[in-house]
Amino acid sequence: MKTLEVKELRKSFGHTLVLDGINFSLDQGRALAIIGSSGSGKTTLLRCLNFLEQPDEGSIYVEGQKIFDAKDRDKLSEADIREKRLNFGLVFQSFHLFPQYTVMKNVTLARELLQKEAGKVKGVQKLAGNIEEEAKELIAQMGLTGKENAYPHQLSGGQQQRVAIARALALKPKILCFDEPTSALDPELTGEVLRVVRGLVEKKTTMIIVTHEIAFARDVADHVIFMDEGVIVEEGSPGEVISNPQKERTKQFLTRFSNGT
Ligand SMILES: Nc1ncnc2c1ncn2[C@@H]1O[C@H](COP(=O)(O)OP(=O)(O)O)[C@@H](O)[C@H]1O
Ligand SMILES: [Mg+2]
Repeated sequence: MKTLEVKELRKSFGHTLVLDGINFSLDQGRALAIIGSSGSGKTTLLRCLNFLEQPDEGSIYVEGQKIFDAKDRDKLSEADIREKRLNFGLVFQSFHLFPQYTVMKNVTLARELLQKEAGKVKGVQKLAGNIEEEAKELIAQMGLTGKENAYPHQLSGGQQQRVAIARALALKPKILCFDEPTSALDPELTGEVLRVVRGLVEKKTTMIIVTHEIAFARDVADHVIFMDEGVIVEEGSPGEVISNPQKERTKQFLTRFSNGT
């Protein structure tokens, strides 16, 4: 059974067609890298998976269960959306930590709210385990032991992004999504975040990594998708798509990237 299946996803903003029939699937424990030029629809795709946007057409399955079908999208209640969103974790480009809360609180907050809702809101279930203990473990896993009581402004961008990763993991998503997790970072801070992401790949976390770090995608991903103008132009192993692309558009993109323009 596939952990994730995306079928015929379409999304327009006004007259602009941004996703034009996206189909892919992801097996448990696998890392999928999505590459493509700016404006190709990568962020919109992640936002659709995380219920931050509603696709106009198509359906999404998690572990064989249909969690979204555009045909029924008007019937989804807020509670449905909150419950279904929990299948996914999202790490944004620009961290989005809560500035008024400590590292610890940033990691535990969503989980605490979830515990409160469990039993009150239909479909929302408590997660097993001790919130604080697990948060400490995640903070340690991110190399941030000792920073539990720090506030975001006291941390470097790389540290903030690692807190954001711990926060996403605290909700135990089935699929963890990264949207260009290092693009807001100075080059010297990029490595520390990529090391953490690599560690998650090695632990067989099921994930989608939208990235412009092509060498990183080639090293860590099991599967690579190249998107352009809202379609999947080419997909396959990193050896196929990145080292030996077949389509002209993929070749052009990779050439531009390796020239640094
Ligand atoms: N909320 C929005 N309203 C209107 N247009 C949008 C919105 N979000 C994204 N777009 C447009 O959709 C296209 C794809 O954007 P995006 O998904 O952010 O691409 P990428 O992440 O690959 O750079 C762009 O042309 C962008 O301007
Ligand atoms: Mg983007």
